[in-house]
Amino acid sequence: MYSLAKSLLFQCDPEHAHELTIKGLAKTQHGPLAALYRRPKIHNPVQLMGLTFDNPVGLAAGLDKNGDCIDAFAAMGFGFIEIGTVTPRPQDGNEKPRLFRIKQADAIINRMGFNNNGIDYLIENVRQSRYKGVLGINIGKNKDTPIEHGKDDYLICMEKAYAHAGYITVNISSPNTPGLRSLQYGEALDDLLSSLKQKQRQLAEQHHKQVPLLVKIAPDLSEEEIEQVADSLVRFELDGVIATNTTLDRELVFDLPHAHEMGGLSGRPVQNKSTQVIKELSRRLNGRLPIIGVGGIDSLTAGREKMAAGASLVQVYSGFIYQGPALVHNLAKNL
Ligand SMILES: Cc1cc2nc3c(=O)[nH]c(=O)nc-3n(C[C@H](O)[C@H](O)[C@H](O)COP(=O)(O)O)c2cc1C
Repeated sequence: MYSLAKSLLFQCDPEHAHELTIKGLAKTQHGPLAALYRRPKIHNPVQLMGLTFDNPVGLAAGLDKNGDCIDAFAAMGFGFIEIGTVTPRPQDGNEKPRLFRIKQADAIINRMGFNNNGIDYLIENVRQSRYKGVLGINIGKNKDTPIEHGKDDYLICMEKAYAHAGYITVNISSPNTPGLRSLQYGEALDDLLSSLKQKQRQLAEQHHKQVPLLVKIAPDLSEEEIEQVADSLVRFELDGVIATNTTLDRELVFDLPHAHEMGGLSGRPVQNKSTQVIKELSRRLNGRLPIIGVGGIDSLTAGREKMAAGASLVQVYSGFIYQGPALVHNLAKNL
């Protein structure tokens, strides 16, 4: 079924194919046509951060930015689902074209720029969904919010997402929002984490519910920078870390079509880079915070490498685009 859908979708422009898929899934997820993609639930539970994940394989952020098809992705067998990145206000994102396939490398380059319908729209979708598993809500800042006020956007999103999220991910690692990655360093990071942690404590009291707060980091950090991030995460008592987002590095694709496009590269070419970041993080964190591993997982071996490097759970995006639900099933059952 997926190879048929893929052969049709891969003939379209990538973003058009994405939109068609999201619309199709949103329309069918609560009707009889959902049987076309529904797979048996895979019960291989993982307990982490006070949550029970049905299995260790999650949908990575960015595929369902507005939470339009939470129930469709749940039906495909994911053990948890992360929606977003969402910003306080709706925004269009960057100019098109902004999404490119590098088929020769099972890779994708994107410079979407957090195109989304805003947090209120996303929360309404969460309310409408029937999903009972772990739902991550990935939050970001609007492009036109100056970076020195970026914190306010995260706080707005946290406040609105808290009651509805299984966990919240603070995305400070997209390469497609100018200045965003600067929040990964030094004082800017400490200032952000301190405010978010304070907000989490206040919201936990208000809602009588502890919602874990995670930070998603880039694969383009040096060893020293990874150590500094890890130390800050521990110091401010964050609950977990997601490693990694897409890379700016083009070394492994430099001679392939679209390699020169600006944006973040994902899929097989980011696999080792993200595994190295997880290894380094894990060494520094020494079990004090769990790691969700993401980046180029395209096989059981690649999934096992992420776990061996120190990840407790994994997520997929590009591998899922190239292989469909069969990859999720294989990982969820065997990891
Ligand atoms: C088209 C596209 C859009 C993405 N959008 C987001 C996003 O909005 N927020 C985010 O945290 N990560 C986003 N990502 C990054 C993925 O969640 C993931 O971290 C990265 O692609 C590495 O995993 P992969 O190699 O399995 O794709 C996006 C990735 C792609 C390919």
